[in-house]
Amino acid sequence: MMKNSFFSLSELWDFVLEKRYNRKEIFRGFVDVLKKHGLNKSSLILDAGCGSGFMSLDLAENGFRVVATDKSYEMIRQVKINAQKKKIGIQAEQVSWSDLSKKFDPIFDFVYCRGNSLIYAASWEQNWIVPDRNLEEIKKSVKSFYNILRPGGWCYIDSNIKPYSEKLGVLKTRKGDVEVSWKAEVDSSQNLRTWTIMLKYVSSQETQEFVSYSAYLSNEEICEILHKTGFKKVEKNIPVHGEKYCDVFIAQK
Ligand SMILES: C[S@@+](CC[C@H](N)C(=O)[O-])C[C@H]1O[C@@H](n2cnc3c(N)ncnc32)[C@H](O)[C@@H]1O
Repeated sequence: MMKNSFFSLSELWDFVLEKRYNRKEIFRGFVDVLKKHGLNKSSLILDAGCGSGFMSLDLAENGFRVVATDKSYEMIRQVKINAQKKKIGIQAEQVSWSDLSKKFDPIFDFVYCRGNSLIYAASWEQNWIVPDRNLEEIKKSVKSFYNILRPGGWCYIDSNIKPYSEKLGVLKTRKGDVEVSWKAEVDSSQNLRTWTIMLKYVSSQETQEFVSYSAYLSNEEICEILHKTGFKKVEKNIPVHGEKYCDVFIAQK
């Protein structure tokens, strides 16, 4: 029995992100994108797949009107814990992407789905995937993003399907020092990407592994889905200062 076990994926995501990104830098980069697309602090923004609140909490803290949504109970719990710690008021709702259009009218000026989330539409927090079903959910999700945008509103999506292997080093956590590394592998014949996070608890040398599966979706396929959904303008290779990992797409309704 592991003495130090376990972290949930939401806790793990929360502390790994802080190591991976310069939070202030990417926040500034993201706000630049908002401004370039005509948004300001009175615009209504929806975070689709807010996770532990990376970006949505920063937006709320800086006076933007943002609604944070995620299908994961654990992630919504985590965003609320983080909001409370930082004394930030935020509306955070547990809702799946494909259900967003049942819950919201077309009121949003900007909907974003960041952090390489879209490819996990029907596989996040699962140790299994059915690729066809996942692809179906990706398409339904993008349609739902479209439906909750007002005419002329913008949808931001990012993606990274490149294989990699990276040591993140030793991170300080509430369970002591933990050595973290992760890798992404692809099997293009199955349209499958496998992402593995490996933890080693320094004091006990015990290990923990998280394996997640997602779609292996090319940038061309993402653009095609956006076009087929009805977006009239699709921009790719959007530069976002501080975004070191993902390719960014922006589409206009
Ligand atoms: C890789 S994390 C990224 C989180 C956050 N956007 C960030 O940048 O840190 C993916 C997130 O997408 C959420 N997610 C995946 N599929 C979803 C779906 N179908 N509906 C709503 N949220 C979903 C997961 O629960 C998870 O919080």
